Amino acid sequence: MSAESRGVAVVSGGGSGLGREIALELARRGYDLALLGRRQEPLEETLALAGQRDRGLILPCDVRDAVALERCAEEIRARWEAADLVVPAAGVTCIAPVEETSPDDFAAIVDTNLTGVFLLIRALLPAMKKRGRGWIIPLLSVAAKRGFAGWSAYCASKWGLAGLVAALREELRGSGVRISALYPGATDTPIWDRLPGEWNRAAMVSPREVARALGYILDADPSTLVEEVHLGPAGGAL
Ligand SMILES: NC(=O)c1ccc[n+]([C@@H]2O[C@H](COP(=O)([O-])OP(=O)(O)OC[C@H]3O[C@@H](n4cnc5c(N)ncnc54)[C@H](OP(=O)(O)O)[C@@H]3O)[C@@H](O)[C@H]2O)c1
Repeated sequence: MSAESRGVAVVSGGGSGLGREIALELARRGYDLALLGRRQEPLEETLALAGQRDRGLILPCDVRDAVALERCAEEIRARWEAADLVVPAAGVTCIAPVEETSPDDFAAIVDTNLTGVFLLIRALLPAMKKRGRGWIIPLLSVAAKRGFAGWSAYCASKWGLAGLVAALREELRGSGVRISALYPGATDTPIWDRLPGEWNRAAMVSPREVARALGYILDADPSTLVEEVHLGPAGGAL
């Protein structure tokens, strides 16, 4: 860890969209970055944008792979002892009515958005609890509170994740480790490039605003836990 470092921020999905924007915000705040995602190149780009080619770490992996995540956690422990901040932002979606959603697509979405977050936290949490501090801030969604036609797999994954976060928050009381959650509405990121339909990208939330909301969580007085921040397009859900 370099002299001025505030520790390490582990960001899954750190190669694009919200994960990248949040990683850049955390780098500005003095955190070393450890970035996870399946593709190496976008992770390297984020590190370069953050000016952390030498200081940061990229850990290409699939968050559905428990063994790979244990290896990542081992690398993080070896270099930083424990994660200071964990932002599970890796996520996928598809749009289809329930009867046209393939079992494989449903499984991939739940395995990535829900089980993948569980596996990442499970791998990193023991060292955080042992050290008695740390913060976990997963990316939930407006789709963790509302239903949207065609988004059943995504809603199921995010509603499930909301349950995981709520239970874990109670487990962590008194441990020194905190968990907060971000609930963005439609945000202009590459996730929309792959979805069918016409989307008004200009009306979406900017990823920068979501990163600022994460900063608000971190900046609160330690006596207060900002449990959730919800933000969405000013014009309403798209
Ligand atoms: N954009 C929105 O409107 C919005 C709103 C609310 C919540 N969110 C949530 O915000 C998070 C970030 O999404 P985004 O909008 O920024 O989309 P994005 O740009 O597509 O980013 C998703 C990231 O997840 C990574 N990823 C996907 N599957 C993975 C896997 N199995 N293992 C490891 N990494 C994986 C991707 O990298 P690789 O492909 O290289 O693996 C990518 O970097 C997601 O959890 C999403 O549900 C998004």
